[in-house]
Amino acid sequence: MIVIVRKPLVAGNWKMHGSRASNAALVGGIAAGLARNAPLTARCDVAIFPTFVHLESVAAVAAATPIAWGAQDCCAEPGPGAYTGEVAASSLQELGCRYVLVGHSERRALYGESDELVARKFVAAQAAGLVPVLCVGETLAERDRDETHAVVARQLGAVLERAGVAALARAVVAYEPVWAIGTGRTATPAQAQDVHAFIRGRIAALDGNIAGSVRLLYGGSVKASNAHELCSMPDVDGGLVGGASLNAEEFVAIVAAAARK
Ligand code: 13P
Repeated sequence: MIVIVRKPLVAGNWKMHGSRASNAALVGGIAAGLARNAPLTARCDVAIFPTFVHLESVAAVAAATPIAWGAQDCCAEPGPGAYTGEVAASSLQELGCRYVLVGHSERRALYGESDELVARKFVAAQAAGLVPVLCVGETLAERDRDETHAVVARQLGAVLERAGVAALARAVVAYEPVWAIGTGRTATPAQAQDVHAFIRGRIAALDGNIAGSVRLLYGGSVKASNAHELCSMPDVDGGLVGGASLNAEEFVAIVAAAARK
């Protein structure tokens, strides 16, 4: 039997927070915390996602550390071109981004991003050499109607259809139940595991090796106090952290919890 070891990834989505000064302090604090626990990044990858305009100044600090960085979104068009206000994945790659979030629920809900648009962003990201972090997840109403699996299957399916299963070898999937984002209400480890196993199963139906190696992150009110039990679940390979990623000590503690997996 082949045993696949997936290195956990803890990613901090800073959303529309931070200034040049506060970001420099935050990334410096995270780097210092990781350095105090040197073996941590051997056992867990770490990435941060500042706003577009802060990427360059954050990268200047993070470049000398094991912390990778990425953007929170990218244009669905490969670009360059006449797309006022958009940011091309190739520009992000030029700034040293390794990752880019696509389909975060805030973009789906507040900016009307469809499954199809998210799938196009996923493809554009990979075309520029970035690793897309595909965010999926159901609303509370959808969960209450017992539609969680159907919603996640639809969101994932749009990407599988457009990009093909092989593309998942160069991607990360983040399950973020909308009702757990910024609410302090976390999915139970069992609820997270159920959906993660479902996602891995959908991918396994197409390609077992890719399903075994793709990292599936949980997001939604992850904090230092719940990170270990969530990451202990067999199909949870780390976290996509919002609010708690804005505090260096808390974020490093989450990395430490994931590294204990
Ligand atoms: P919170 O950790 O603040 O709930 O946010 C989760 C999230 O949206 C990460 O992308």
